[in-house]
Amino acid sequence: MTNYSEKFEKMRIAGKLAARTLDMLTDNIKVGVSTAHIDKLGYEFIRDNGGYSAPLYYRGFNKSLCTSLNHVVCHGIPSEERILVEGDAVNVDVTAIINDYYGDTSRMFCIGDTSVKLNNLINATYESMMRAIKILKPGIKLGDIGYEIQSYVEDKGFSVVRDFCGHGISNTFHEPPNILHYGNKNVGIELTPGMTFTIEPMINAGKFSTKVLNDGWTAVTRDKSLSAQFEHTIGITENGYEIFTESAKGYSKPPYL
Ligand code: MF3
Ligand code: CO
Ligand code: CO
Repeated sequence: MTNYSEKFEKMRIAGKLAARTLDMLTDNIKVGVSTAHIDKLGYEFIRDNGGYSAPLYYRGFNKSLCTSLNHVVCHGIPSEERILVEGDAVNVDVTAIINDYYGDTSRMFCIGDTSVKLNNLINATYESMMRAIKILKPGIKLGDIGYEIQSYVEDKGFSVVRDFCGHGISNTFHEPPNILHYGNKNVGIELTPGMTFTIEPMINAGKFSTKVLNDGWTAVTRDKSLSAQFEHTIGITENGYEIFTESAKGYSKPPYL
């Protein structure tokens, strides 16, 4: 029994609900479906399982999850007009609140056949997140996380978005510390048991700069290059880490068979 075991139990429940929402959505994310339909299904699933969608009315956001397609980096707003077509890749980012605790996770979904370039970007993004997660334990520094991601993806010619980052999360959506997805080894605060935060690298095929569209939310790559993202909510334990948002169905990474 540790002083954070109750917090972790609540994070597990919230994380599992967010992951189950993405699992449920997986079969529904296909050619001909609007991003608003994905939003509706996600909203209903979370509600029917005793939770609430954290993005809804968060700082004026008026949908329940984010759908970020192709050159959209993050915070894409679901709409009736945007229908998924062959070759699209979409990040769906779900945050569920249950018993006051938050689970935040996102995955990439490929619509039909996607280009080799896009597949490579998606694979590298997922791999960079998992490499950063695997080094987590008390005593490492926040900069070690950023270094792991940045060195891995830059070696492949991709870039790490600077304008958005991971975040502490527990009974608030976004709390300190910021988790940068770039950085240097042995720099920044030290990880300690009981910390809970997200790792959610946004990786671009081109340059890292982004801009936010006039809707006030949708962030896109300035050079219109493709962008990919995955996100897990994790906790630091005595000797390592726990992922709260793992898919029980093995759906953490495409292709989802
Ligand atoms: N889920 C996003 C994150 O990973 C935040 C979305 S805020 C919203 O932090 F308002 F755009 F939904
Ligand atoms: Co997040
Ligand atoms: Co998120």
